[in-house]
Amino acid sequence: MCNFRNLFAGLVLTFISSSILAEGRAGYYGYGKPATPTEIAGWDIDIRADGQGLPPGSGSVEDGEVIYEAKCAECHGSFGEGVGQFPVLAGGTGTLNAQRPLKTVGSYWAHTSTLWDYIRRAMPFMQPESLESDEVYALVAYVLYLNDLVDYDYVMTQDNFTDIQLANREHFVPDPRPDVHNTRCMENCKNAEDIKIVSIVRRPEPAPAEIAVAAESKPHAGEKIYNQYCVICHKAGVAGAPKKGDAKEWNTRLEAGMAVVTEHALKGYTGKSGVMPAKGGFMQLTDEEVRQAVQYLVEPNK
Ligand code: HEC
Ligand code: HEC
Repeated sequence: MCNFRNLFAGLVLTFISSSILAEGRAGYYGYGKPATPTEIAGWDIDIRADGQGLPPGSGSVEDGEVIYEAKCAECHGSFGEGVGQFPVLAGGTGTLNAQRPLKTVGSYWAHTSTLWDYIRRAMPFMQPESLESDEVYALVAYVLYLNDLVDYDYVMTQDNFTDIQLANREHFVPDPRPDVHNTRCMENCKNAEDIKIVSIVRRPEPAPAEIAVAAESKPHAGEKIYNQYCVICHKAGVAGAPKKGDAKEWNTRLEAGMAVVTEHALKGYTGKSGVMPAKGGFMQLTDEEVRQAVQYLVEPNK
């Protein structure tokens, strides 16, 4: 059961911390401080498939066997067979099509770099990141040996690392879903410092834009707002609301003056027939929008 959670967490944090540094100022969102190079180095421990990120060092299968017996076998078994529910590290070749595939480093994983990264980052389970580089090289070599991928006299170094190709690598494909359609940049990529934020996602505010368009093209600026916000009560006279087009009703109310009627619509009003909530209950409306809606509402119907 290949689990890349730790690996991804590391990659994401690396990316975030380096972009904050590139930004050159603390807290784009108003908090935090630029990460120091030492802090970044502490997170920046990912190993890529081409060996990028590997520290110098080496380790033999022979040394790996000793370390593995001391630090890994209690959970993963002396032959990588897995003790109890702990993951099996070896075997399973040819089972990926089977009803119960056995996914191991040998049968399923795509890159040796994942093994290197995983062991250094997450193992032994109770002491993650406690191993020296040479120990990790030796353990990687030994897990490969348990999978019959190298001989007992094999010594892994930073230089021969990429010689080992895992069998299943061809069957991993770039994610084809449409939300990740950008081409991955693997070389000559943009300098992070040159990347500028040109826009940020804002909360959608579609209504005012529509209203502005309506205001230009329609004879009455208030019509659109009325239809969107006031119509629910004022068309049919819901809850005692005076109906649009009821000339008698509006003429009576307008005796108090347009200013008063408008003020009631803005601030809210409880009269004889019911409750007019302030702005109809839509506090996002500007005073001007409500004013326009009132003008439209009190007009006699055409
Ligand atoms: C206390 C038990 C324990 C010890 C000791 C331990 N591991 Fe693990 N190991 C685990 C568990 C649990 C997982 C699965 C973690 C997960 O899925 O998040 C795991 C996962 C792994 C994996 C990934 C397996 C896969 O297919 O997903 C590798 C490789 C691995 N361990 C290597 C090692 C090595 C090398 C050592 C010795 C340095 C070691 N482990 C020591 C418990 C242990
Ligand atoms: C939830 C129902 C409701 C909504 C929505 C609503 N109104 Fe009203 N409105 C009322 C009621 C009820 C009254 C009558 C109150 C009374 O006179 O007792 C009223 C009265 C009014 C009056 C008359 C005030 C007066 O002084 O007589 C105006 C003007 C008005 N509304 C404008 C609006 C506008 C503009 C909107 C949309 C932005 C709106 N209303 C949305 C329920 C509503």
